[in-house]
Amino acid sequence: MLQVVTGGFFGDEGKGKIVSYLAIKDDIEIAVRTGAVNAGHTVVYNGKVFKLRIVPSAFVNRKTKLLIAPGALIRLDILQREIEETATGDRLFIDYNTGVITEDHIKAELKDPYLSETIKSTKQGVGAAMADRVLRRLRLAKEYMELKKFLIDVPLTVNEGLERGLNVIIEGTQGAFLSLYHGTYPYVTSRDTTASSILSEVGIGPKRVDEVILVFKSYVTRVGAGPLEGELSEEDAERLGLVEYATVTGRRRRSAPFNLNLARRAIILNSPTQIAITKIDTLYPQAKGVREYSKLPREAREFIERIEEELKTPVTLIGTGPRVEDMVDLRGEKLGID
Ligand code: GTP
Ligand code: MG
Repeated sequence: MLQVVTGGFFGDEGKGKIVSYLAIKDDIEIAVRTGAVNAGHTVVYNGKVFKLRIVPSAFVNRKTKLLIAPGALIRLDILQREIEETATGDRLFIDYNTGVITEDHIKAELKDPYLSETIKSTKQGVGAAMADRVLRRLRLAKEYMELKKFLIDVPLTVNEGLERGLNVIIEGTQGAFLSLYHGTYPYVTSRDTTASSILSEVGIGPKRVDEVILVFKSYVTRVGAGPLEGELSEEDAERLGLVEYATVTGRRRRSAPFNLNLARRAIILNSPTQIAITKIDTLYPQAKGVREYSKLPREAREFIERIEEELKTPVTLIGTGPRVEDMVDLRGEKLGID
């Protein structure tokens, strides 16, 4: 079975949390990370907080084989650090064609006031490396001696795994409206972020997909510049408890209430079979740590039901806290998946 997890707003919806939960719950055998080091996934597991920019969030399941997509971009220093932190050196593999970001890319971005000041990029060298890839001069993983022991053919491994009936998950990064094609251009990231593009980054055809899980947070956040409809003032965000800080840059995330119009558009762009909603406990503190739907406060249930009705897609996963296990899982009830 192949599941694809993708973001419905501007990133940071909590894909890391959803993927880590599924990795354990669904006995995921292969997980593939897409995107680059400008996206940080947070996983809170066994009392520890992991902020992952390369290693797939599914690492929490020790049996999961962890792959980095050919379309992804890595950095050698971050890779080494994260492998140590997660102790995954024996089960992490990188595609031959995965791109490698260097110091020069970071410098190029810092020197470019349009990217670093106007667009307010994360200054991680990702845009510069993507530009080099398009100009056919980016160095790929297969050119680095130190990566030799990790190299693998990711499209082949995933496709053969699926033939054998393995459980595979693909982890998207960022969100629909940061997409280079479908987002709020030019205030976007340097790649498409929707489900189809994530598949292409890995090297899997669309017929292989069983489930597309679109993740929304119970409110909208965005880092960097660009439009944010209904943006709350810093005081209002604080009063409502909606203040967050970015995983990679430490910048304060701008916030706004849940936006149904954006959500409808994200549905068009991703064709999800399921919706996940995270941080319901932030809007309704009594929901914290709840694992049964009936135990959620009534207002929280009404909020979920309204979204489900408006978006005509089942809400199957509801995040009730930052820990991997803080989740209401309705897949059995709504889709017949145990
Ligand atoms: P990108 O790939 O960068 O888009 O990130 P992401 O979608 O993996 O999200 P990220 O981890 O950057 O941000 C989500 C934040 O919400 C993290 O701090 C998580 O720990 C937290 N979080 C996720 N789900 C829940 C939840 O259900 N409740 C609470 N309270 N926090 C959550
Ligand atoms: Mg993030």
